[in-house]
Amino acid sequence: MTVAIERDLLLLDAATQDLLFREARTANTFTDEPVTEDQVQAIYDLVKWAPTAMNSQPLRITFVRSAAARERLVAHMNEGNKAKTAAAPLTAIVEVDTDFHEHLPTTFPHAPNAKDGLSGNDTGRIAMARFNGAIQLGYLIVGIRAAGLAAGPMAGFDAEAINKEFFGDGKHQVLAVVNIGKPGPDAWFPRNPRLDFDQVVTTI
Ligand SMILES: Cc1cc2nc3c(=O)[nH]c(=O)nc-3n(C[C@H](O)[C@H](O)[C@H](O)COP(=O)(O)O)c2cc1C
Repeated sequence: MTVAIERDLLLLDAATQDLLFREARTANTFTDEPVTEDQVQAIYDLVKWAPTAMNSQPLRITFVRSAAARERLVAHMNEGNKAKTAAAPLTAIVEVDTDFHEHLPTTFPHAPNAKDGLSGNDTGRIAMARFNGAIQLGYLIVGIRAAGLAAGPMAGFDAEAINKEFFGDGKHQVLAVVNIGKPGPDAWFPRNPRLDFDQVVTTI
């Protein structure tokens, strides 16, 4: 399908399609422009409406703002991710709360047995937290773009060390670290091709 047809079939206007997807890129450098508390609250208050299994919402976010906290984080990033994490105006540690089920009586009240069912099933609950947290990470990246900012998600870090350094309770598990800000000079790596519809989709 050509982009022209695609633009016409989608309800979102073309500029918004570009902002969220076609022209949005993964940023590797950022300007000094701060990302405010109001901006990140607006982003969260938008993306919180996106769906998760049993409305489980396992995502938690630790925003790293202080120089001291940033230094603690950078120490555990892979070599290639250190400089950009040290320099970003704001960095989010995106984690899951594996005890998300404690909130189910409020967030999924019509299934009164759900909380107790999950509390005895650590393996299933942690898998559910990580799967749904990863979905929420995707929503968060799109939300950051909706605010006119760029995200630089990274999975290159020592997860065990970050969990110990920042959480230490055994209940929170980092999924990704995301730099956030306005893209700086030379922010992009070369754009790589995406798989086409026919390579990805089977209709039966
Ligand atoms: C979950 C996730 C983990 C990633 N980890 C890293 C990373 O550790 N280091 C890095 O430089 N880029 C990382 N990336 C960036 C991807 O390589 C990049 O988003 C992808 O190639 C698309 O780039 P584009 O948005 O510029 O087209 C990661 C992206 C995602 C979504």
